[in-house]
Amino acid sequence: MLSPDGRRLRLLDQRALPGQEQWIDYDDVESVAQAIETMVVRGAPAIACAAALGLSAASHGFGDDPAAVRAAIEAGCARLANTRPTAVNLFVALAQIREAIAAAPADADAGQLRSVLHDTAQRHVDDDLASCLAMGDHGAPLLPQGGTILTHCNAGALATAGYGTALGVIRSAHAQGRAITVLADETRPVLQGGRLTAWELARDGIPVEVITDNMAGALMARGQVQAAIVGADRIARNGDVANKIGTYTVAVLCKHHGLPFYVAAPWTTIDLDIPTGAEIPIEERRGDEVRRPAGVLTTPADIPVRNPAFDVTPAALVTAIITERGVFAPHALADAG
Ligand code: MRU
Repeated sequence: MLSPDGRRLRLLDQRALPGQEQWIDYDDVESVAQAIETMVVRGAPAIACAAALGLSAASHGFGDDPAAVRAAIEAGCARLANTRPTAVNLFVALAQIREAIAAAPADADAGQLRSVLHDTAQRHVDDDLASCLAMGDHGAPLLPQGGTILTHCNAGALATAGYGTALGVIRSAHAQGRAITVLADETRPVLQGGRLTAWELARDGIPVEVITDNMAGALMARGQVQAAIVGADRIARNGDVANKIGTYTVAVLCKHHGLPFYVAAPWTTIDLDIPTGAEIPIEERRGDEVRRPAGVLTTPADIPVRNPAFDVTPAALVTAIITERGVFAPHALADAG
């Protein structure tokens, strides 16, 4: 969110949750970019919202020369685009900003350009929240009454402008009295499930239990999971879904056990320019996330590790994609777009 005077971006530091709730203020592009890279803020829609609002806040330091303001907005977009490559929402938000600034009158002064930037950023945020609420309406009826629903990573209020995508559907189902319990995969290596999903669902009074990622199959085999629902970072034209590493494993397990595997994502996550999941860029993060979970060395420091941050779930494993426009079979996205 922005400070009341619009000059600072305020982010809840997600690295410190659930232990501490600390907010950090940002007023320049480089520090916003680093906040995204280091995952102070994370989750596809939230990254886009933070980049857009952060650029708006930073623009108060761009001076009063309109040409210089336009150039600084462009440079800011370029820096922010170079933070995390997989989630497409960031690129959608930056394209909206570039387009709005390009469409501003040629004689717009610096203040008018800042207003265009601010309004475009705020619209992106408002649209994301509205999308999450609509996804909740569309998706809630799919979740079985009294069922236990597995989720992976955090696709909640923390990962969006608010309410969440997968967790938004869960919130709506809970509000409708469907008596669901959530199983949150811990989500190695950054532990978004154990740290963030559990934290935000508990605050809303939604029953949640955390499991380590390798427990899901055993619980499905015992009949203790009825469905899985996850968010997405980018969905290709053919319905392949990039999401947090480990999502593919969950989808395979669901297929094996005959369970529905749902993906909830706003339309801004669907990238119709990318034909299949194979073309989605997958971010590789630093090895110490794997070697030192929560700062404790658990792997010999000199042993190489692998750390792809996302994987691709083939469309064939996805039961349905829940969007603000309704519920789609994965292969039907292209025609709907
Ligand atoms: O690396 P992260 O924490 O940014 O990854 C987040 C995810 O993979 C989420 O599931 C996805 O962005 C959807 S959030 C609504």
